[in-house]
Amino acid sequence: MKVLMINGSPHPKGNTSVALNEMIKVFEENGVEVKYYLVGNKAIRSCIACNSCYKLDRCVFDDEVNEIAKEFEDADALVVGTPVYYAGPNATLTALLTRLFYSTGFDKTMKVGAAVVTARRSGTTATFDALNKYFTISGMPVASSYYWNNYYGKASDPDNQDIEGRRVMRQLARHIVFLMRGIELAKEEYGMPVYEQGEMTNFMR
Ligand SMILES: Cc1cc2nc3c(=O)[nH]c(=O)nc-3n(C[C@H](O)[C@H](O)[C@H](O)COP(=O)(O)O)c2cc1C
Repeated sequence: MKVLMINGSPHPKGNTSVALNEMIKVFEENGVEVKYYLVGNKAIRSCIACNSCYKLDRCVFDDEVNEIAKEFEDADALVVGTPVYYAGPNATLTALLTRLFYSTGFDKTMKVGAAVVTARRSGTTATFDALNKYFTISGMPVASSYYWNNYYGKASDPDNQDIEGRRVMRQLARHIVFLMRGIELAKEEYGMPVYEQGEMTNFMR
């Protein structure tokens, strides 16, 4: 089993890293391979809707997105973490995710998805909703914890008191492991769900 983790923070030792590291401990205990990328300090542009990816089967801008795409194809789960910036996800992260999901033709069905959100105070649930939308348009089951996947803190602080936030992260990781294993068994037993063919309707006459 393999999990791809993308951290949208620019801080290698920031709060989002603390939250994701709590999950990594659980993955390692369970023998799950982890591929981890910190992207918030990279210059990653967004999609320009050129649709070159239809022909190339990769993004026309050959940067981290195409590298991460190979890991995504191979992964059983994707965990995306972000700090809240003005009540939404970090823009570098959404630039990456938009290009990653749009430019890749491989089937994402039944890869488990999970969003992790870090904030000083507010905007977590709106950010959580925005990130979950990448999964839920892609046939990806969304893993949850026993609470929304938030971790609170202002700056990197070794005395951070969000003990519950870290517990939420560990439980989320356990649920991801369970789902990955269950989906693997279900694929062997029943095969993947069938997709219907049909035209796209665009709400216009
Ligand atoms: C540009 C910017 C905008 C921010 N906007 C918010 C916000 O809307 N709500 C909030 O609670 N915290 C906000 N924060 C604080 C960060 O979300 C918070 O410090 C977070 O824990 C940082 O995560 P990191 O250490 O992984 O980078 C903002 C920080 C920055 C730099």
